[in-house]
Amino acid sequence: MKVLVVGSGGREHAIVYKLSQSKRVDKIYCAPGNAGISQLAECVDIKAMEFDKLVAFAKEKEIDLTVIGMDDPLVGGVVDEFEKAGLKVFGPRKNAAILEGSKAFSKDLMKKYGIPTAAYETFTSAEDAKAYLETSKYPIVLKADGLALGKGVLICQTKEEAMEGVKELMLDKKFGSSGNTIVVEEFMTGREISVLSFVDGKTIKLMSSAQDHKRAKDGDQGLNTGGMGNFSPSPFYTEEVDDFCKKYIYQKTVDAMAAEGREFKGVIFFGLMLTEDGPKVLEYNARFGDPEAQVVLPRLENDIVDVFEACVDGTLDQIDLKFSDQACVCVILASDGYPVAYEKGFEITGMEKFDEEEGYYLFHSGTKFNDQGKIVTNGGRVLGVTALGKDLKEARANAYKATEWVNFENKYMRTDIGKSIDEVVK
Ligand code: AMP
Ligand code: GLY
Repeated sequence: MKVLVVGSGGREHAIVYKLSQSKRVDKIYCAPGNAGISQLAECVDIKAMEFDKLVAFAKEKEIDLTVIGMDDPLVGGVVDEFEKAGLKVFGPRKNAAILEGSKAFSKDLMKKYGIPTAAYETFTSAEDAKAYLETSKYPIVLKADGLALGKGVLICQTKEEAMEGVKELMLDKKFGSSGNTIVVEEFMTGREISVLSFVDGKTIKLMSSAQDHKRAKDGDQGLNTGGMGNFSPSPFYTEEVDDFCKKYIYQKTVDAMAAEGREFKGVIFFGLMLTEDGPKVLEYNARFGDPEAQVVLPRLENDIVDVFEACVDGTLDQIDLKFSDQACVCVILASDGYPVAYEKGFEITGMEKFDEEEGYYLFHSGTKFNDQGKIVTNGGRVLGVTALGKDLKEARANAYKATEWVNFENKYMRTDIGKSIDEVVK
């Protein structure tokens, strides 16, 4: 069969890699893809938000299944466009992708259905938000309602910071219309865990847990980024946590969406915080995480096409989802200066050493071919150096060893990805 993947990052590279392992797949296209993806798929010069062109391409090439990796097209309704054209597509429709697309929606859903999350208020007027913040407890969290490249969340230590935050989000429109509505949320503390799941509208099957490192610098310092690396599974995701989330969060979310007439099919990514009062939902995403996909998918033992199709067809209950018991660690090689300002266009060397058979993967995030046909850096996050191991310590040692194989001029990485496991893993 022929498959089309929409997106251009490390997550899409991991999805394409997994599809390339499927016995059922003859040909993979990726729009727009990147230099690494082009080694496994034919990259097509169509951007993720060009819905008409994507649909026309899928029709022309008689694509059997399209997989949407990114949030923007999902929230914008790309799945609905494919379905209207009679094409099979993996991902939530617009009315379900709102679970990620609007924080006010997801908070109201959790409140209505009793799913544990931080206490909050929603505001559509800056004046009302400011009045509320006059008497709030600090720190407090402000969130732009809509998509903001993971940067629309402000943790405000003082009233002054919060007032400035309201100005940035609602008046200066730093994230455009995403800040027309804001959620003001209670500040919580605890360890964060990502749990990805496949959903077919009714049934939910969990993938392995993962732990992200969102801040740019070692020791969780610096600005929030898209993610600087992660590991899977998380030893902090205990059986007790799993039981709690199964009872109060996962199936309840799927049922709540169905009850609202917003049947969810695709991937739900639960961003959880393990607070003193138990696990709470920080956020939902309507897609694989990046780089969560990079550490979870190499361990998936099923043919991923079977799983994607079961989600679309509503037959996920018949799939026995299996993960290898190895551990996986991904360290992001970024351009120095990310997430603020950085140079790109530097040649990358040393990539040929990675051998998937031996458990080393190099997932490309921001790379492209230059005019001379050389692979060069083309983004803030450049590569996801990923390695398997018999346990987390071995996987981490392998991943950091492999980071030394690759070089480019302004290479930057965190040196403490997975260090927190030392607290619990001997
Ligand atoms: P989100 O995009 O909602 O996951 O928020 C981005 C990051 O901000 C999270 O990964 C947390 O580190 C932090 N964050 C979000 N909401 C809260 C909260 N209520 N309390 C503390 N930290 C939060
Ligand atoms: N790594 C976090 C995300 O994909 O949203």
